[in-house]
Amino acid sequence: MSPERAPFLKWAGGKRRLVPFIASAIGLAQEPTKQAPFNSALAPSLTGDFSGRQWKRLIEPFAGSAAVSLALADFFDEIWLNDVNEDLMNLYVVLRESPESYIQEVHTLFSADTNNAETYYRLRDEFNRTTSRRRRAALFLYLNRHGYNGLCRYNNDGEFNVPFGRYKRPYFPYAELMAAVDVLAKSQLTCLDFEEVMQQAGPGDVVYCDPPYVPLSATASFTDYAAGGFGPQDQERLASAAEEACRRGAVVAISNHDTEWTRALYQNAEVHYTRVRRSISANGQTRGEVREVLAVYWPDGMQGGKVGGGRTTGQSQRPSAREHSRERVPDSRLPNRTVY
Ligand SMILES: C[S@@+](CC[C@H](N)C(=O)[O-])C[C@H]1O[C@@H](n2cnc3c(N)ncnc32)[C@H](O)[C@@H]1O
Repeated sequence: MSPERAPFLKWAGGKRRLVPFIASAIGLAQEPTKQAPFNSALAPSLTGDFSGRQWKRLIEPFAGSAAVSLALADFFDEIWLNDVNEDLMNLYVVLRESPESYIQEVHTLFSADTNNAETYYRLRDEFNRTTSRRRRAALFLYLNRHGYNGLCRYNNDGEFNVPFGRYKRPYFPYAELMAAVDVLAKSQLTCLDFEEVMQQAGPGDVVYCDPPYVPLSATASFTDYAAGGFGPQDQERLASAAEEACRRGAVVAISNHDTEWTRALYQNAEVHYTRVRRSISANGQTRGEVREVLAVYWPDGMQGGKVGGGRTTGQSQRPSAREHSRERVPDSRLPNRTVY
């Protein structure tokens, strides 16, 4: 693992701190991760020993800042990064095409002169109007590091509308960009709905899925709106796609909040639990810590990453998660095109 190969983007729900937990659950770690959030002293050392496994490709259908692929790239021959966010995937494509000129151009956007509200809104305007995909890619990283909380949000007209972030000195992620270039060189890049990607997964693939999460309490909010435009039907579509990819021979892991609803949804998987510290507590009782699950679907005859394990997912016996939910689950969408 490369703990130093951190994402160069800030991304809501980024998984950098959970990499050791995820790696351990899919059988890459030497020792099982205790419920520890990332801390280099606690992180298990990972082995490159793939004996008994034939994994060649790591697929992230919900790539975001690609924290997992960046950290685990050395264990795989190929990476496939996919996300529905066109600006995100355009940035990865431009960075791979011409790393030096891209990094140079972005660097000129990180200075004391560009870190003020007036310049931010002028550059945000330029981002929304430009037809150059190279310029758009450069401005996207500027906006990511200078905008409020690294958010990525668009209005109904598809315009990026995150306000100025007021950071003292936004960090220019030079080392992180350079490290990502190596990984992008062996990556396939697509901008598709996750299902189209997962349909192509099979033997030799490890698929790590990090969708927009279900709300912590799947009560009113889950029925009133779909977080990140990703509703209950999408969560079910993902669980079904995972089971199908697993039947074709892929190992599939899905992250989500730990709720009654997700426990029912992933009942055919091996489920791992952890706690994650959040800067803003979503629940007064958790004091900033929330429980997450990682559901791992192992193909026939494989468990814990080793051939010959006992568990098989077989034919799905999973009833609809909605049958386990006391709530009404309508097909609702956020009014804004909010990308997570
Ligand atoms: C939780 S974030 C992923 C974070 C990522 N693991 C990281 O470490 O940065 C979820 C991502 O799913 C993407 N997404 C939402 N709906 C999608 C869909 N239907 N197909 C593919 N990607 C989708 C969003 O654009 C967002 O980048």
